[in-house]
Amino acid sequence: MGRFTLPRDIYHGKGALETLKTLKGKKAMICVGGGSMKKFGFLDRAEGYLKEAGMEVKIFEGIEPDPSVDTVMKGAAAMQEFGPDWIVAIGGGSPIDAAKAMWIKYEYPECTFEDMCKVFGIPELRKKAHFCAISSTSGTATEVTAFSIITDYSKGIKYPIADFEITPDIAIVDPELAETMPKKLVAHTGMDAITHAIEAYVSTANSPYADSLAIHAIELIQDNLVKSYNEDMTARDTMHDAQCLAGMAFSNALLGIVHSMAHKTGAAFDDYGAHIIHGAANAMYLPKVIAFNAKDETAKKCYGVIADYMHLGGNSDDEKVTLLINYLRKMNDDLNIPHCIKNYGADSYPTEQGFVPEEVFKERLHDIAANAILDACTGSNPRQPSQEEMEKLLLCCYYDTEVDF
Ligand SMILES: NC(=O)c1ccc[n+]([C@@H]2O[C@H](COP(=O)([O-])OP(=O)(O)OC[C@H]3O[C@@H](n4cnc5c(N)ncnc54)[C@H](O)[C@@H]3O)[C@@H](O)[C@H]2O)c1
Ligand SMILES: [Zn+2]
Repeated sequence: MGRFTLPRDIYHGKGALETLKTLKGKKAMICVGGGSMKKFGFLDRAEGYLKEAGMEVKIFEGIEPDPSVDTVMKGAAAMQEFGPDWIVAIGGGSPIDAAKAMWIKYEYPECTFEDMCKVFGIPELRKKAHFCAISSTSGTATEVTAFSIITDYSKGIKYPIADFEITPDIAIVDPELAETMPKKLVAHTGMDAITHAIEAYVSTANSPYADSLAIHAIELIQDNLVKSYNEDMTARDTMHDAQCLAGMAFSNALLGIVHSMAHKTGAAFDDYGAHIIHGAANAMYLPKVIAFNAKDETAKKCYGVIADYMHLGGNSDDEKVTLLINYLRKMNDDLNIPHCIKNYGADSYPTEQGFVPEEVFKERLHDIAANAILDACTGSNPRQPSQEEMEKLLLCCYYDTEVDF
């Protein structure tokens, strides 16, 4: 038996933010990041609409990018004190993910972070509050997904919380919010979205329901991401829908080892002064993982189908896989994203000598590979890597060498 779960309502298109006026409740807590939503006026508008709906509103602000366990605990304590019956999270993946984890802790104060990380182990929510997510970036699609990614900085590891309980009740996908994104954010979040769609399509947990969404997302992202990066606002608006379709697919079909590797490398070199941004990590690892997974016949056929939908040509599945890899690498070039960690600058742009030193990468390789294998996204990858294969794959992602195993 399969299950396919989405928010009860998805409001999309320009003006969708106004839906907040129609929420029914007494108290809403808005969870928001460091300032972009305030600066562009969206926070004020959201607050105003909720007040029009007759609600008392409190704002929990300052949720950092790649939110920490600490922030989750602080937000949950603020919720405990205020007692909202609506949690309204607005911004990129970070504040929405953090708010989802706060929601769990608010409903179950005794629940520890370790408890939350038990895959599909969250107790029944909605006894205290419902959840509305409003996305301002076009990538994570957390407004429709059953996931929340929280970083444990004491370990330098990102942990996915996964359960349909945290799929929001309402998603608001208003493209106006995405129009203020700087180019770099467009590039990273857009490559995150295409990775979601491709990993969902080749996942062992795929289904006809998810496949159709994943394929259409891929087509839309192919047609619109680079244009959106180059400030075409019609393309920017379409990308906001495309990433959401990809999210609906992967929330149900799950992901693969591109994400396992991104989760386990993202914060692993913070002591060297930077992060490998989630979408950029995916963009660098995706072509490598496709080459690795394509050794599995079923996965190879799926990549062939994707290449066909993208009109890339090719006469055999092997040729189609190569064309798909080349196309994705060209997208990285067009979006100014490096091809490998060695060339990943602290500012995320390509550079001769990136911020992760070679010896440090090799020193940490064993543990990163072991952690990536244990990541919740590995189970649905079409080919299960051994420790040795994962280490080799990560080395290819470091040096941009060919995956021939
Ligand atoms: N829950 C999921 O299903 C899921 C999926 C993929 C990734 N993630 C996680 O989501 C996080 C990344 O989220 P993200 O990529 O959306 O970025 P983000 O939320 O971390 O935001 C990045 C920066 O962009 C700014 N910003 C956001 N929207 C803006 C806008 N419209 N205009 C101008 N600036 C804006 C923010 O203020 C912030 O400084 C990571 O922690 C990643 O692991 C979650
Ligand atoms: Zn992602």
